[in-house]
Amino acid sequence: MFTKETYVSRRERLKKQVESGVLVLLGNEQSSMNYKDNWYPFRQDSTFLYFFGIDRAGLVAVIDVDADTEIIFGDELTPDDIVWMGPQKSIQEQASEVGVSSTQPLASLDSFFQAVLAKNRQIHFLPPYRPENLLKLSTWLQASPASIKSGVSVPLIKAIVAQRSIKTQEEVVEMEKAINTTGMMLKIAAHLAKAGMTEAELAGQLQAIAISAGGNLAFPTILTVNGQILHNHYSPTQLQEGQLVLVDCGAATSMHYSGDMTRTFPVSQTFTARQKEMFDVVLTAYEQAVGMLKPGVKYKDVHLQACAALVDGLKQFGLMKGDSLEAVAQGAHALFFPCGLGHMLGLDTHDMEDLGEEYVGYAEDQKKSTQFGLKSLRLARALEPGFVLTVEPGLYFNPDLINLWAGKKMHADFINYDKVAGYKDFGGIRIEEDFLITPEGSRLLGNHVPRNMEAFRSSPV
Ligand code: GLY
Ligand code: MN
Repeated sequence: MFTKETYVSRRERLKKQVESGVLVLLGNEQSSMNYKDNWYPFRQDSTFLYFFGIDRAGLVAVIDVDADTEIIFGDELTPDDIVWMGPQKSIQEQASEVGVSSTQPLASLDSFFQAVLAKNRQIHFLPPYRPENLLKLSTWLQASPASIKSGVSVPLIKAIVAQRSIKTQEEVVEMEKAINTTGMMLKIAAHLAKAGMTEAELAGQLQAIAISAGGNLAFPTILTVNGQILHNHYSPTQLQEGQLVLVDCGAATSMHYSGDMTRTFPVSQTFTARQKEMFDVVLTAYEQAVGMLKPGVKYKDVHLQACAALVDGLKQFGLMKGDSLEAVAQGAHALFFPCGLGHMLGLDTHDMEDLGEEYVGYAEDQKKSTQFGLKSLRLARALEPGFVLTVEPGLYFNPDLINLWAGKKMHADFINYDKVAGYKDFGGIRIEEDFLITPEGSRLLGNHVPRNMEAFRSSPV
């Protein structure tokens, strides 16, 4: 946890920004996997962590902006809980560690909200992404789940996004811990991978590193010889000589700050000539994108530049043709890069995505595109010092998508389908790094991890 002052000052700023009303910030519950007492690993809500720092299930925080009071609602452990979970700090103790002096049992929430509703006061709450929290709000606020979903507080969302988007120095330090563990996971993956090993065997080793570092995985590891499928996790598939392995992984620290990096390397000691050609195309797109990172530059423009670089590279090897900028404008590149260049990173890997991409990644005057590919761009707005984001260009040869597009002759002015047909078994390549936007430009976060792991494959960690 950060110091008490960090949480107090974050809440003070929030109160100033929202100005009036009652703010309700729900912590998360334990969540059962397959029977009641078999839980998924507990994950506290990130906004709750940001303002209250308490990593414990079953809490609800209320800030009355007008009365300038803060209450944490929660139930102390029962003797039964103590038998199964051992002793824990009291809620009052935990609350006081983050500067909150008032705590109440959960049973008080009904009467608390009845009093607020009776006075017709404004109640601000965030989009609930867990069904139990949707139902709780629906009960307390005496509104249907549908009207809860449509009644979320845009002023509260905007105030939180404004605050959480700019990472403080102490957050960056924590994030670099996560990113360094993530880099170590990638190095170990490249070091251990060999033909005959399964994707799952390798992915298991990576989770061990994340846990040993004191946290856990920030998201299920993407480790696959089918990198053309963007979020393919891992399977019992054996790695074979000549294939590419794509590893997209992230460690989270004990405070839940996340890393998110990707490397793609050959199962064999070296890339084939064709693999190296495509790797270098992705690397060039990555380098061009990184070269543009500085305050004031719209990330959408960085994305479009990376797309144009990918098209330039594909043209060099005869897979695409025509004017690169026009190809990108029409969305032809999306056959090979059907996603966005990156996203905000923080307590969440896709930071604050639960609050709404349009608030996190888009300015008020920017509309999200509906074009295939561009519609998946999570971050488009102008960069500001303190943003932490990913840069993750790639080339993906998805045979089903190629067949679909070829059958319809889509963007045939820009795509040489005869040539592309020879790449249906290629797989996918992605390079991903995490950057802090600084007043002058950007800073790569974490220790250096070779982007081309070829040389590294045979060397000691
Ligand atoms: N690393 C997974 C993602 O960015 O979606
Ligand atoms: Mn990512």
